[in-house]
Amino acid sequence: MDATTLNHKLVFPAAVTGIQEFQQASAEAFCNLAALTLVMGSQDAYTQGHGRRVAAYAERIARRIGLSAEEIETLRIGGLLHDIGKITFSRKLLTNTRTRLSASMRAEIRRHPEIGRELLKVLNMAEPVIDCVYYHHERLNGTGYPRGLKADQIPLGAKIISVADCFDALTTDRPYQRGKRPVDALQTLKHLVGRNLCPELTRVFSADVRENGLERPLETNLQSARLVVV
Ligand SMILES: [Fe+2]
Repeated sequence: MDATTLNHKLVFPAAVTGIQEFQQASAEAFCNLAALTLVMGSQDAYTQGHGRRVAAYAERIARRIGLSAEEIETLRIGGLLHDIGKITFSRKLLTNTRTRLSASMRAEIRRHPEIGRELLKVLNMAEPVIDCVYYHHERLNGTGYPRGLKADQIPLGAKIISVADCFDALTTDRPYQRGKRPVDALQTLKHLVGRNLCPELTRVFSADVRENGLERPLETNLQSARLVVV
């Protein structure tokens, strides 16, 4: 499979296609990125670590399906920032340890893609990155949020991040649940194929995890150090 078999909409806008312009845009985006991740980490250490791992998994999928260097960069930044909208979460929600959430907590959670999009727009982030952030909770069957988009309506970058996001959420310890073993998490991803996740991307990702292992939970930079799958 290659990227052309998927809904391939990750290209940068025309204004950022020249290499020099791309480097300048990247430098500006990098400064914004550093500031945002600092703020995010001070609010919520889990989300910061989760963003780094999701970025690394998304990059691995992108490389495996043959996306371009610019598209890979989009995925790395989109993965890192996908939950940036959570920086406005209340302390009550960030420290919650219960599995059952109140209606107001659920509503607060569902707003984070929209808040992320608004924040990144103000910071002049590239549109494909914003799409990754805004659409990462859409589901193939249309039951996701914020827009309830279906299958091919969902941008490729958001579908890649969705697979990476699910897997990392399943394999890491949270205050309200123990992380699953990688083999069990891959099995869970399989059950989500078709309803939530893109079948081709999930297959590509599962093969990659079996070959190359997991990103470390306590990783402190974007260079991936990996754990073997057991
Ligand atoms: Fe999210």
